[in-house]
Amino acid sequence: MHQFATQHTTGSTHEGSPGRLLVVDDLVANRQILRGLLQRYGYEIAEAEDGETALEMIEETDYDTVLLDIMMPKMDGYEVCHRLKSNGKTEHIPVLLITALSDRDSRLKGMHAGADEFLSKPFDSKYLPIRIQNAVRAKRLHDQVEENYYKLKASEELRDGLVHMIVHDLRSPLFGIHGNLELHQVDHGPVPNENEDFVGAALRETKRMIGMVNALLDIHRLENQQMPINATTCDLREVVDEAVASLGANLARDQVRIEIEEEDMGCHADREILVRIFNNLLNNAAKFSKPGEPIDVHIGRVSEDAVLIEILDNGPGIPLGEEQAVFEKFGQASEVKGGAQPSSGLGLNFCKLAVEAHGGRIGVDNRMDGGSRFWFILPILAESF
Ligand SMILES: Nc1ncnc2c1ncn2[C@@H]1O[C@H](COP(=O)(O)OP(=O)(O)O)[C@@H](O)[C@H]1O
Ligand SMILES: [Mg+2]
Repeated sequence: MHQFATQHTTGSTHEGSPGRLLVVDDLVANRQILRGLLQRYGYEIAEAEDGETALEMIEETDYDTVLLDIMMPKMDGYEVCHRLKSNGKTEHIPVLLITALSDRDSRLKGMHAGADEFLSKPFDSKYLPIRIQNAVRAKRLHDQVEENYYKLKASEELRDGLVHMIVHDLRSPLFGIHGNLELHQVDHGPVPNENEDFVGAALRETKRMIGMVNALLDIHRLENQQMPINATTCDLREVVDEAVASLGANLARDQVRIEIEEEDMGCHADREILVRIFNNLLNNAAKFSKPGEPIDVHIGRVSEDAVLIEILDNGPGIPLGEEQAVFEKFGQASEVKGGAQPSSGLGLNFCKLAVEAHGGRIGVDNRMDGGSRFWFILPILAESF
């Protein structure tokens, strides 16, 4: 079994409190003035009497804003600010520099140190709370974005871990079941009544599951650039023929009409992967069409070095606005159109990743007279790969 990633929490949003402030000033009288001005707004206010203590406190506690005096013995406000702003863990905490000096030079120095705002003494009792409110709001927004980012990352890791588990841990037992069912069939011969062919039915379902597990594995590899692509020049007619043949009973050979602009039209791709792209698109076209309805494959040059392949069906088409979503992992159109047909939403995601791994593009639109038109573009020559 594989370990899933543990959830990361920033623990930075202390709900209920309008903000946690740190007032840094060497003079107790100054700290008291600020406390007096701000306490009525409900802030949690902590105090530090020098720069070093402030840095230690900030390491321990997540403050929403730091109010920082400039003139302090030992480490001055510029230095404290500079240290906070050059540390990835604290750079996002708003720093409001307090100064009696309103001269240009000290502000400039403060800006260089990375200060977010300046507050000049004596304090304006109306202006100060607004400045602080804005700084706290900016910090909280940052925290929220960061928290959402970690949540998203954690759920992505969880999902990847799950895929990894499915792919690696389920494959061998599945192959074991499949092999044993096949052996059983060989030993016992065909069942006279098809309705009682329970082993045959189990075998079919096992094959379907193996197909899904393999699709997940391929998608995982393509996403992580781990899929080996052995590109050669492929004859497109041969590839389509092979894909049609591989679909067996799902698609009648004469149902597919192939139109190729130039004979011997080829492209530069991994042949096996290309067959599977066609296999998926043709299978969908057949699955979403009425039985026996024609499916057209058009192949033509779109430029000097690229070929355009279109697969046109007469099915229900893709609901408007969902042309991108169907290519996403597990993506399915909102209206269920495959009837009772099994569906995983992995096929088109595989096609998209595989086409893109070849430097190509894929898309879908609806035909004027109904049905969908899936298309993809691939390079013709090795150089453009
Ligand atoms: N030719 C088509 N006509 C209409 N809808 C289609 C067609 N091909 C794909 N779709 C829609 O796209 C979804 C995703 O297709 P796909 O990734 O191949 O997964 P699956 O075939 O397992 O459902 C399908 O469930 C269906 O909603
Ligand atoms: Mg499909």
